Amino acid sequence: MALVTTKEMFEKSMKENFAIGAFNINNMEFIQAITEAADEAKSPVILQVSSSAIKYAKLPYLMKMVEAAVESTNIPIAIHLDHGPDFETCKMCIDAGFTSVMIDGSKYDFEENISITKQVVDYAHSKGVVVEAELGKLAGVEDEVSVSEDDARYTDPEQAFEFVSRTGCDSLAIAIGTSHGAYKFKGDARLRFDILSKVKEKLPNTPIVLHGASSVIPELVDMCNNNGGDIPGAKGCPDEMLKQAGENGVSKINVDTDLRLAMTAQIRRVFNEEPSVFDPRKYLGAARDEIKKTVSHKINDVFCSANKA
Ligand code: G3H
Ligand code: 13P
Ligand code: ZN
Repeated sequence: MALVTTKEMFEKSMKENFAIGAFNINNMEFIQAITEAADEAKSPVILQVSSSAIKYAKLPYLMKMVEAAVESTNIPIAIHLDHGPDFETCKMCIDAGFTSVMIDGSKYDFEENISITKQVVDYAHSKGVVVEAELGKLAGVEDEVSVSEDDARYTDPEQAFEFVSRTGCDSLAIAIGTSHGAYKFKGDARLRFDILSKVKEKLPNTPIVLHGASSVIPELVDMCNNNGGDIPGAKGCPDEMLKQAGENGVSKINVDTDLRLAMTAQIRRVFNEEPSVFDPRKYLGAARDEIKKTVSHKINDVFCSANKA
């Protein structure tokens, strides 16, 4: 199947109340694991690439590997720029064949966010590419910039309506209490579903995106820590909350941290349990299997996107 934009998959997700997983990719193992899991579940999937992933793996390599995954599977796959920092990066990805880009203007004030988002929307739409924008500010670490819980800002539903009307963006990332990375909540996990439902009331036809939505799977954190890792007290978004989000208007759920944990946990385990191993295929193969298992669980049990391809 060809690369697609997120338009049709989001329309289906809004009609049938499920979410589509958007998984960050950095190398071949991630791409194979994610797309094989999605293909087996007959689920649409979004592969997303951050600026740091582009710096690490280089755009032509990522594009060719994604094309190979598209040729090897029979599901709709979108390729999306995650947290595009500026117009130039969005344009570079659109020109390289991405079907979707995010312009993250959440660090700017409202008017400036509108202006940069509109600039990206105008260019993207002229090329048939869709745009995700962000309003509100998530806590956590993103591209080495850290936002404390106190500096985080929930999305204002009134502003969200004005923002989407004035920019023409195709989907909107909102802040309702999630955050990036492995430390999401100091106390109990809490998401502002009241804000989500107000945003949906104002914008019933706009797909809503949840960033920072890894569940920070305790078994993977334990596997890391039991094999020489040092990630104490990591905590994520419980699966039940993510399921509830998918059933209540969230169309795209972003996952990066859980896949990083899956890869690291298995590599640590192999190094620890089999110190004589030095064939990278042994530990990268185990890592790829664990990523695939993680993605399958999310697609089948949490996002409920299986059989929606
Ligand atoms: O939200 C950010 C993503 O987890 C990407 O992180 O910039 O380290 O690739 P990265
Ligand atoms: P996590 O850090 O919770 O995996 O969030 C990833 C993300 O939002 C990518 O944009
Ligand atoms: Zn994010």
